[in-house]
Amino acid sequence: MMNVPHFVDQSECSVSELNDLVALALTIEDCPADYQDRLRHRVMATVFLEPSTRTQLSFQTAMLRLGGQYITMNDPQTSSLAKGESLMDTLRVVGSYADVMVLRHPCEGAARLATSCVPSGCAVINAGDGGHLHPTQTLTDLATLMRVKGRLSGLTIGLCGDLKYGRTVHSLIKTMSRYPDNQFVLIAPPGLGLPADLLASLKDQGVTFTKTTSLSEVISELDLLYMTRLQTERFDLTQRGEGIPSDWFLTPKTLQQASADLCVMHPLPRVHEIDPDVDADPRATYFQQASMGVYARMALLLRLLERPTPASPVEIPPQVGTPQAPCQNPHCITHQQPTLKNAYRPEIESGDSFVCFFCDQRQPRQ
Ligand code: NCD
Repeated sequence: MMNVPHFVDQSECSVSELNDLVALALTIEDCPADYQDRLRHRVMATVFLEPSTRTQLSFQTAMLRLGGQYITMNDPQTSSLAKGESLMDTLRVVGSYADVMVLRHPCEGAARLATSCVPSGCAVINAGDGGHLHPTQTLTDLATLMRVKGRLSGLTIGLCGDLKYGRTVHSLIKTMSRYPDNQFVLIAPPGLGLPADLLASLKDQGVTFTKTTSLSEVISELDLLYMTRLQTERFDLTQRGEGIPSDWFLTPKTLQQASADLCVMHPLPRVHEIDPDVDADPRATYFQQASMGVYARMALLLRLLERPTPASPVEIPPQVGTPQAPCQNPHCITHQQPTLKNAYRPEIESGDSFVCFFCDQRQPRQ
């Protein structure tokens, strides 16, 4: 059972709900034919306003394999967004055509906004909102790890690459830190470490982590190595005077120092950070991980669409007592939609900071 009607942030699910989704994904992978008619006559809308290969196609495959159908909107230039329609109106209308909407958008908080725009009966799934979160990639990662390692706890996890802008690592570390006895090694080129907010919350929770810029120095300690590419669409590489050193690339030589049962994952697309010669190594799990995306998303679609109560829209908190200052995150959806008002989480409003309802960025009270 899923308590939440929408899947925007995996932190809103309990660990037992996540475990249930993972277990269901593995059961479906073992016997997909048992599920082929479960979502007959249901319609999914995929709205992808940022490039995607795996996430979009695995969602569409998942819906088709469950007997459902999909409609799709990709290029803003070929939709009414190009005529000046607000994102809110587009989401409201597309949501009225479907039972579930899968949204990818370049702005942080876009999926949270969608939960307030869609009509009753339409669930929203976050398929990546800027550099913020990618919760269905995390589900995929958890299911893959469970399949390969048989456990989600007691692991030393190396997160390597662009930890600043990589939404997959943000979602993954937040989730894996909820399982017992996991520790993290953060391997990032200078200037591309985890955002300060996220580091502070890991510290608050007492999560064990170390930081380094060199993969070869730490690879022998790891059970899982999670590689990511530089998110060059989110920052200007040419502005980085010192360039990007390559001692976080994975090559067959670096892998020689790793344990025999290391699991190497990557959400893909891979650019230069994993040498293709690594692909033949039995520890390379990233293509298996991409296939698991279908089963993880089948599990999520089933749990969301088979809830006894249909999804209902989320109310944006009223502005009573909140500061009217704009959200300090320049990538927040509130800066892209001129008619959208700022909103902050009421439960965290007291104290000296508050949290944007859409993008979750904590900001000092002015
Ligand atoms: C990731 C994404 O879009 O964040 N890709 C994916 O969904 N598998 C990773 C990336 O683009 O680097």
